[in-house]
Amino acid sequence: MKVRAVYPGSFDPITNGHIYIAERAAAVFDEVIVSVLVNSNKKSTFSVSERCAMAREALGHVKNIKVDNFNGLLIDYARRENANVIIRGLRAMSDFEYEFQMALMNRKLAPDIETFFIVTDPKYSYVSSSSIREIFSFGGSIEEVVPPIVYSKLQEHFKK
Ligand code: PNS
Repeated sequence: MKVRAVYPGSFDPITNGHIYIAERAAAVFDEVIVSVLVNSNKKSTFSVSERCAMAREALGHVKNIKVDNFNGLLIDYARRENANVIIRGLRAMSDFEYEFQMALMNRKLAPDIETFFIVTDPKYSYVSSSSIREIFSFGGSIEEVVPPIVYSKLQEHFKK
């Protein structure tokens, strides 16, 4: 039986840290869906279609990854997609509390869906989409931690 995994997130924008986790997941699971959350309550810098387009370009080299978006509960989406694994990346202990709570809640809602954590490479341990947006908006250098498509979209967005 093929194992299909969902790697959900805001991906606003996707970073090299996310790409690293997606590649590692794709090396273990048959299919990985990198799925961008459509959350109208949370103000995002990039639209869902922009976030998906960046992720698609950045992950185009991995054959068993597809990029999609979802609305509503993650476990409902995973079921619709016949995915029984959720992937989340862990950077530091500070991620753990939130991730632990989310994994337990998802398990309570859907005991048949497993959450797998992949620990990041130390070189990405400090990388987050929010810090990238902030650093870039103030003129800091972030070229090494985002894929080229994201760098050019950030330049376009912040008109640098
Ligand atoms: O990249 P993020 O913002 O840390 O990702 C968070 C995400 C998208 C995984 C989480 O907010 C989520 O799953 N949202 C969908 C709604 C849902 O299922 N909530 C219950 C989680 S316990």
